[in-house]
Amino acid sequence: MGNFSVLISGKGTNLKAICESGLSKKIDCVISSNPEATGLQIAKYYNIPSYTINYKLYCSRKDFEHQLLCITNKYNSSLIVLAGFMRILSEYFITQCPTKIINIHPSLLPSFAGINAQKQAFDAKVKLSGVTIHFVTEKLDHGPIITQGMVPINSIDSIEDITTKILQLEHKLYPFIIQKLINNQVTVESTGHVNIIKDNNDHNLLGKLIHQISY
Ligand code: GRF
Repeated sequence: MGNFSVLISGKGTNLKAICESGLSKKIDCVISSNPEATGLQIAKYYNIPSYTINYKLYCSRKDFEHQLLCITNKYNSSLIVLAGFMRILSEYFITQCPTKIINIHPSLLPSFAGINAQKQAFDAKVKLSGVTIHFVTEKLDHGPIITQGMVPINSIDSIEDITTKILQLEHKLYPFIIQKLINNQVTVESTGHVNIIKDNNDHNLLGKLIHQISY
């Protein structure tokens, strides 16, 4: 697999983690739906071409998504990585996009889909939440699951504590999975099951986290 584009809307902490893992040269471009996104500064720091497509300036979602496709197609990206991208992509984008799209979600899907997943976990008083990385389909937060990582929640944890613990895992897991995709070590069966080809380097990359992750 070749290079990839990253779509953001906010802080871009996952983008930063992806860059710090050594993948910055593999990023064709960063596109933000929000002109204020601090993640744009990360793209600048790593000399990655960046674009703002302010969804508020478009008459329709289709026009906005058409603009996104124009840029990702221009770079001929092999993969679209959603990293804190806060716009729901419609069937139009998903069917027109020639590549796979992946997303990271801060819960163990299918639990706590949608926004404020950490607050949903807090309110439900679950003892375990986590991270899901999945392929994007028309149905929000329901595409084939690539991997999941567990985050234990203690009774004293605040929503902020849960958010921090989940983000720490996201920052390890997302670069790891993107590297696996680049290495063509991810396969999807006709049943929708996703398999990841394991290798001896996985343990070095994930360290103790490997025990928190199902892949
Ligand atoms: C992350 O929790 C991610 O799971 C969700 O958006 C949050 C913000 O990500 N999709 P980032 O700091 O902008 O990378």
